[in-house]
Amino acid sequence: MIKKVKTEDLRKGMHIVLPDKWFAHPFLKNEFIIESQSQIDKIARAGIREVAVRVKGTASEPRRAALQEAAPAPEQAPVCPPELQEVIADRKLPPEKKAKLVRQKSIEMMSRLMEDPSAENIAETKKGVADVVDLILTNDSTSKYLLNITSYDYSTYVHSVNVGFLAVSCAKSLFRHSTGHNMHELGAGFFLHDLGKVNIDLSIINKPARLSDEEMAQMRKHPQYGYEILARTRQLTEECRTIVLHHHERFDGSGYPLGLKGEDIHLYGRICSLADVFDALNSDRPYRKGLGPFAALKVMKEEMMFHFQKDMFEKFVMLFS
Ligand SMILES: [Fe+2]
Ligand SMILES: [Fe+2]
Repeated sequence: MIKKVKTEDLRKGMHIVLPDKWFAHPFLKNEFIIESQSQIDKIARAGIREVAVRVKGTASEPRRAALQEAAPAPEQAPVCPPELQEVIADRKLPPEKKAKLVRQKSIEMMSRLMEDPSAENIAETKKGVADVVDLILTNDSTSKYLLNITSYDYSTYVHSVNVGFLAVSCAKSLFRHSTGHNMHELGAGFFLHDLGKVNIDLSIINKPARLSDEEMAQMRKHPQYGYEILARTRQLTEECRTIVLHHHERFDGSGYPLGLKGEDIHLYGRICSLADVFDALNSDRPYRKGLGPFAALKVMKEEMMFHFQKDMFEKFVMLFS
């Protein structure tokens, strides 16, 4: 028999059944017995608030043993799924299908990184991001579909992938005629822009309502936390770490954490903030439905234009034409 259990009530030893679609959750198997608190934390971080649980005795002992054996510890899986590179290299895949698979594998990569953002895992993620960046730089037909965001999930790792695709595409368009930008490093900065959220309380990240002032003050520390993780692990150039620190700064000086204005905000941070705001408006949030791409761009133009550099915003809009 199956019963629904709230994520906060999950315990080790429970036999859980997650949705069939693997990309709806961050695990390799959709059915397994919980072996550690970190698996429960991972479910909570994925924004899953309720889980189907097989009640005791409904699986035979041999079946239980098989499940325990079959369920791989998530920590053992490589951070960058080998399939990501295979899919990108596959010349026979139609662009739409390729984009869908690249998205799925990138989400998997980011969810594993967020579980353990060690220097080694960040370095491995950078390699995966570099392959995605090369795809966007060289294959227009696939990159068009990468921007077709049909999942409105705002979990941190889905959002990180969306922002990565959008910001790399925007940088490609802006830097078409210049060679002075390391697009691999730049891409890593975009994909990792919200890395600091790993240090924010899960109750704040997953709160199904608007944040209180105190919670918002906590949340506003994530750019600094992300920057510090990258500095401590000696990952990314200082310039690209700045993307993480500056992605919530606003062109009119109304952003955080530093309240920087105009071109004091790093060029790369200004690109990231466009992609970040667009994805936040486009996606479902706990307190409202996602607007969809065209309404999101309209709100940015009509209500938030002072937050962005005008000519850069115009280039960003062109990505959707
Ligand atoms: Fe952020
Ligand atoms: Fe973000």
